[in-house]
Amino acid sequence: MEKPKLRLVIPKDEISLKIKELSEKIDKDFDEEPIVFIATLKGAFMFASDLLKHIKNPNVEVDFVRVKSYGLSDKSSGKVELIKDIEIPVEGKNVIIVEDIVDTGLTLKFLYERLKALKPKTLKVCALIDKKERREVDIPVDYIGFEVEKGFLVGYGLDFAEKYRHLSEVYEMVKDE
Ligand code: IMP
Repeated sequence: MEKPKLRLVIPKDEISLKIKELSEKIDKDFDEEPIVFIATLKGAFMFASDLLKHIKNPNVEVDFVRVKSYGLSDKSSGKVELIKDIEIPVEGKNVIIVEDIVDTGLTLKFLYERLKALKPKTLKVCALIDKKERREVDIPVDYIGFEVEKGFLVGYGLDFAEKYRHLSEVYEMVKDE
């Protein structure tokens, strides 16, 4: 098996600057209106943790959801399964989904439609990374950290076969020549 090399794509100072920007925008948009943040496990654990530390709104609830998408190699099949559901009721509330990365959009679409059916007051999406060019379904991403064209990314929550999630920066996996 080829040994993967990691190439730094988003350094930690850029991540923290962007997180400050995103949290300020969310605070400006919602002021002190209640919000339920729903972070997607496992990938968004680090992003959600850092983002939420900067939110000044005192009326915040936090919940987690875990969805698993099945696919061949690096391609999502659209077959998505809910492994862990939310525990906080969201009907009539402002909800923000906190995602690590949106690729084809199939996983997010599944989650978005599921949450929409629970009749929240508003439903927004905040994603650290948007691979917009690979999108296959139309799904709105309201707060975007970084747009990345291609490549398989790891670190800062993102994994390859459950590895690299603990890294504090985002890397692209590049194959050894
Ligand atoms: P989508 O359904 O194609 O949008 O894929 C979304 C999910 O696939 C994400 O929540 C990640 O778990 C995973 N994923 C997509 N691209 C990457 C990547 O570059 N690195 C790590 N995981 C990824």
